[in-house]
Amino acid sequence: MMASVNNVLCILAFILSAKLSEAAKPKNPVILVPGDGGSQLWAKLNKKSSPHYFCKTYTSDYYNIWLNMEDLLYPSILCFVDNMRLYYNRTTHTTYNTDGVDIRIQNFGDSQTVEWLDPDTKVHYSPVSYFSNIADALVSNNFTRGKDLKGAPFDFRKAPSDSLGVVIVYPSWVRAEQRSMPSTAWLMPSPRYWAKDEVLVITDKRNYTVADYKDLFADLDYMDGYYMRQDVENLIMDLKPPGVEMHCLHGLGLDTPGKLKFGPGQFPDTFPETINDDGDGTVNKRSLIACADWSGQQKQPVMHKVIMNAEHMAILSNPIAIQYIVDLVTDSS
Ligand SMILES: *[C@@H]1O[C@H](CO)[C@@H](O)[C@H](O)[C@H]1NC(C)=O
Ligand SMILES: *[C@@H]1O[C@H](CO)[C@@H](O)[C@H](O)[C@H]1NC(C)=O
Ligand SMILES: *[C@@H]1O[C@H](CO)[C@@H](O)[C@H](O)[C@H]1NC(C)=O
Repeated sequence: MMASVNNVLCILAFILSAKLSEAAKPKNPVILVPGDGGSQLWAKLNKKSSPHYFCKTYTSDYYNIWLNMEDLLYPSILCFVDNMRLYYNRTTHTTYNTDGVDIRIQNFGDSQTVEWLDPDTKVHYSPVSYFSNIADALVSNNFTRGKDLKGAPFDFRKAPSDSLGVVIVYPSWVRAEQRSMPSTAWLMPSPRYWAKDEVLVITDKRNYTVADYKDLFADLDYMDGYYMRQDVENLIMDLKPPGVEMHCLHGLGLDTPGKLKFGPGQFPDTFPETINDDGDGTVNKRSLIACADWSGQQKQPVMHKVIMNAEHMAILSNPIAIQYIVDLVTDSS
């Protein structure tokens, strides 16, 4: 899952509050746009069936489905998967929810929707924190939530998001949910950055590369995944420069899954061994640094800053990253 435990948060918060005492003036409004998994999602149920007697089939109102850590425990996880997953229609190339499940985002524009994945203020702790440290730092520098600090949550199950390619490993309980998302298909390693002869999945019978996705999905008995991949794979294949000033910050130097290795008879239903690559712990190096390709392709500046050993999620509370953002969007007094 995307959430990661951050044990050093208290220390970082202390460093931040010391550093941010020189308040500055907001230069531009800030809109926080999250990556995959970075928006609160709300669900309302009116279902005829459920995967376990423990699961609710009806709720009178919307409840926070993404993310409540308690929902990830057994047996709640079975209810969660059934409610979060999508189904794919091969004719319309669109996805839809489990029958009787309605999922929406709430309070579009409110920064809190992307600051905390769990909106319950009593239980806020770091695994469900997303942009909260960045937002707090901006508020310390005279930004005001709701005025010049906004959030743009979206249903990340359906849309492309922040990384250009990553091998994702999920425990089988959440597999139905994760693989039913077009956003997951979109995150698979791109032929733009992985060579056709570079093995990504190793089994005793055969190996798979970026050129073998069709066979891979067929052997996983999940052809919907292949069709979803086809729907989304060209969305950014040409990686056009965005045409605005770009600042690309990311971590590096951490073990990141690069290949998956299944032992004899283990494919596809057991958890594979991962063979690591360099990256931020989630996204591989070649995808992280892809933003640097825009340098020279557009007239606006492209800044590329690597923060060594900053982990994919932990970078959101990294003092160097936060100070960089604050400096960028304020005039110091
Ligand atoms: C930022 O806010 C503080 C406290 O409200 C205020 O004293 C300071 O003048 C503000 N700074 C700027 C540059 O507006
Ligand atoms: C897919 O969508 C088409 C067109 O709306 C519809 O006729 C068909 O029944 C749908 N298929 C499934 C499996 O829901
Ligand atoms: C799969 O790849 C591994 C590692 O590159 C290699 O040792 C093995 O011989 C390959 N297996 C097949 C069946 O091609």
